[in-house]
Amino acid sequence: MRVVVTGGAGYIGAHVVRLLTTQGCDVIVLDDLSFGRADRIGSARLVTLDLAMTTNLGPLTDALAGADAVIHLAARKQVGESMSRPAWYYQQNVGGMAQLLLAMEAAGVRKLVYSSSAATYGMPDVGVVTEDTPLRPINPYGETKVVGEQMAGAAARAWGLSVVSLRYFNVAGAGWPDLGDPAVLNLVPMVFEPLSAGEPPRIFGDDHPTPDGTCVRDYVHVMDLAEAHLTALKAMDDGGTHAIFNVGTGRGYSVREVVAEVFRASGLVVPPVVCPRREGDPALLIADPTRIRLALGWEASRGLEEIVASAWAAWGQRAG
Ligand code: UFG
Repeated sequence: MRVVVTGGAGYIGAHVVRLLTTQGCDVIVLDDLSFGRADRIGSARLVTLDLAMTTNLGPLTDALAGADAVIHLAARKQVGESMSRPAWYYQQNVGGMAQLLLAMEAAGVRKLVYSSSAATYGMPDVGVVTEDTPLRPINPYGETKVVGEQMAGAAARAWGLSVVSLRYFNVAGAGWPDLGDPAVLNLVPMVFEPLSAGEPPRIFGDDHPTPDGTCVRDYVHVMDLAEAHLTALKAMDDGGTHAIFNVGTGRGYSVREVVAEVFRASGLVVPPVVCPRREGDPALLIADPTRIRLALGWEASRGLEEIVASAWAAWGQRAG
């Protein structure tokens, strides 16, 4: 099976690529290498291009020739940046998706796994969200992910594309120590960084309506997430359908619980400082993962301890 992975040199993408490769797939990575790193994709073939550039439609279509499926992870994903550069986020994420769909149609590739996000829900009224919870994104990043799902659905209806959209919750951990998250943009690495320097981690608000006052999230191991992509790919038929799944564990942990787990895994303890709430943080965001379990038989098998321990091992190995 030949699979094209856009964003395959990034943190999540590299896990998907390695899993596909170990299962004998022929993998082609499309990545602009703005965050991705070529040394993370092993023997997969790399095509370096920015999907969103309209002049790249030809090379993109060529790269898809003969592929059986696409896993589309390439996107910008920083919420704060999306608020300061909204048009660029639309150009990159929505423009990139448009180009990809045009190229897939032209190349006759009819299977897609699309990387969506819990950011599509925004600040839901309920703590545990099903796929039917209304989508009310509160930032341009989340909006682009909603539009991406809509585009995928429209392509399914128009020309028979089969799509699975996966709404990722809080992804962390490392499946292999050399594939840790190189960015310091999410809670786990944002605790590691100060702690490694003997400084206190920061907690953004302890006055939320949650049991310990800190925000509760559903942390999913990147390896479980990567496996969800492969499961989705294998289950997909040629029927021109669009299935949407939450990818989470159904279990929430507070920021304080995550920080305590980092102290345990690292053996380092510097009491955290409590800062003001961060704008736009929902107090609770937990996946109801029932639909993906029933439809695909996927469920997360790794918990917070393994997430943090694997991330810490990878943190110790990170280069640069
Ligand atoms: N947090 C801290 N201190 C830090 C870093 C984070 O207290 O130093 C808190 C945040 O306020 C939040 C929680 O830890 O309550 C998790 O924060 P992250 O930034 O790791 O993750 P978010 O839940 O804010 O966002 C993640 C992804 C987004 C995606 C969103 C979907 O990073 O891309 O989930 O819900 F949009």
